[in-house]
Amino acid sequence: MAKVIAVSNHKGGVGKTTSAINLGVGLNMKGKKVLLIDLDSQANLSQSLNIEEPEFHIYGSIKGIYPVQPLEVIKDLHVVPSVSELSAAEPELTAEAGREFILSELIEPVVEDYDFVFIDCPPSLGLFTINAFTAADEIYIPMQAQYLALQGIGKLLVLKDVIKKRMNKKLEIGGIFITQFDRRKVLNRYVLETIESHFGDKVFKTRIRSNVALAEAPNAGLDIFRYQENSIGAFDYMQLTNEILKRNKSGPKSL
Ligand SMILES: Nc1ncnc2c1ncn2[C@@H]1O[C@H](COP(=O)(O)OP(=O)(O)OP(=O)(O)O)[C@@H](O)[C@H]1O
Ligand SMILES: [Mg+2]
Repeated sequence: MAKVIAVSNHKGGVGKTTSAINLGVGLNMKGKKVLLIDLDSQANLSQSLNIEEPEFHIYGSIKGIYPVQPLEVIKDLHVVPSVSELSAAEPELTAEAGREFILSELIEPVVEDYDFVFIDCPPSLGLFTINAFTAADEIYIPMQAQYLALQGIGKLLVLKDVIKKRMNKKLEIGGIFITQFDRRKVLNRYVLETIESHFGDKVFKTRIRSNVALAEAPNAGLDIFRYQENSIGAFDYMQLTNEILKRNKSGPKSL
């Protein structure tokens, strides 16, 4: 059965897109069929995989022009790309009945073709994130171990509870992981302890360290494994991939 995961944190630049791409490719390298959905009008996920001006994109599907048409980027790694025009969709949908369910309805015919579906959410808790939470089984929250990182996460957890209650009973927090981690920084270590004491075993053991190759790979239009397979970034994302596979074997615990 497909596992649909919304990668979300309304704080910007915490590593949502980087994680969606590299966990998707990591799982694909482990033999899984993966779909990545770019639900952000910044279209960073699409651009990072060298998808420019796609013929079929999520905005066209949200508008009802065509069903979702995933693009094969690597064998068994498909992408539903985004375009900047997606930013127009939110105001266009204000009068649409059931607008929270659009994504869920769109992916329903294809979701069982995959083992994992990652939805790369925008840095907001608006209509697209609501659509992602309505369509997902789990939410993954990437976080930087920085002062105030926990501030605001409360809002995300409240939104999750509301959506779970009203629209999607199965929704859970699937996991939290630290990105751009620097062990040498006392503050990073301190914040990590706070996050772990708050969220317990929801926090993945793997910490994604700061690694320049992760920031360079999108310029080459590549994931970290094809860009620099021996980098720290590739190592960390493969560790996290393995942890995800292990969790999904034993069954994740709910928050
Ligand atoms: N572990 C890392 N080490 C170094 N740079 C990183 C790391 N993870 C991400 N980056 C870089 O940090 C920036 C922000 O990452 P990313 O785009 O994945 O965040 P995001 O949460 O998706 O941002 P947004 O909220 O704008 O969608 C990017 O330039 C990315 O290449
Ligand atoms: Mg992003």
